Amino acid sequence: MEFVGFQDGWRGVIEDVTQPLGIAETTGILPRGGTILGSSGVNPYRVDGGPAAIAEALRRHELDGLVAIGGEGTFGAGAQLADEGIRIVGVPKTIDNDLGGTDVTVGFHTAVQVATDAIDRLHSTAESHDRVMVIEVMGRHAGWIAVYAGIAGGADAILIPEQPFDLDEVCHHLRHRHLSRSSFSIVVVAEGAVPTDASVQLPAAPLDENGFPRLGGVANHLAPLIEERTGFQTRVTILGHVQRGGSPVAFDRALGTRFGVAAADLAVAGGWGRMVAWKAQEVSDVPLGDAVAERNLVPADLYREAEVFFG
Ligand code: F6P
Repeated sequence: MEFVGFQDGWRGVIEDVTQPLGIAETTGILPRGGTILGSSGVNPYRVDGGPAAIAEALRRHELDGLVAIGGEGTFGAGAQLADEGIRIVGVPKTIDNDLGGTDVTVGFHTAVQVATDAIDRLHSTAESHDRVMVIEVMGRHAGWIAVYAGIAGGADAILIPEQPFDLDEVCHHLRHRHLSRSSFSIVVVAEGAVPTDASVQLPAAPLDENGFPRLGGVANHLAPLIEERTGFQTRVTILGHVQRGGSPVAFDRALGTRFGVAAADLAVAGGWGRMVAWKAQEVSDVPLGDAVAERNLVPADLYREAEVFFG
């Protein structure tokens, strides 16, 4: 097969900005984070003539089809383009792990490892200075990173969007912990976590160029309230894009490689309009639309497992 790379996601296809994508260009990239093709938030349906330009790019380069790699933004448009006849095979890749149709997305396990390492390091100051350390992780409207890193790092409370929290309850629980057996606490909060109590007012998130809320910073609002309500010194770490960088963990390297093979096989078999997926410990494939039909969220049972170790 022959491949050509389009730079910066849908923007590169619309504007026809390509780069060679052969063995020479891809050799040695396994241990690298990020993407050698670049990325953008461009939505073809928000660009005048976007979908037509994509069809034209495929014709001009005599391509059999496109392999689109990404998350909600990529496949929101990708599924619609596929419905309109553009030949697309999808590969799920987002640290948020929030795509439907697959049990896991490329990048998630690396982000969890980065967050877990950070929690381990925060334990030092938490313990030595008797503090509450609030660590904010990414994930948009899903709490996967928070739950997995929280369990792996031994968090004393984990706040996720799927389980709105009562800050008074959280503080009560921290006070109880500090009075009974510990002098410090680790609170992991997902950037999309939402309080139930009206006394905690979070500012509305600004919208990005595609109308998605730009999250981040919830920990800055919670920490002073936790300090006030518990009397314990509280500090904030917002992990941010650190979670999206650096060398991928072995699982992500293997998953990305296996997804690549499966995507090529799917294209050869004419499986356009489908996305490769990880289901029940196997690589398989699902309709592209499944990726965005329903967001993959943390199930209540998993959160309850994490809760066993709070406090
Ligand atoms: O979707 C991946 C993600 O890292 C989210 O977890 C986060 O909210 C968002 O992207 C950050 O986007 P940006 O890089 O545009 O700030």
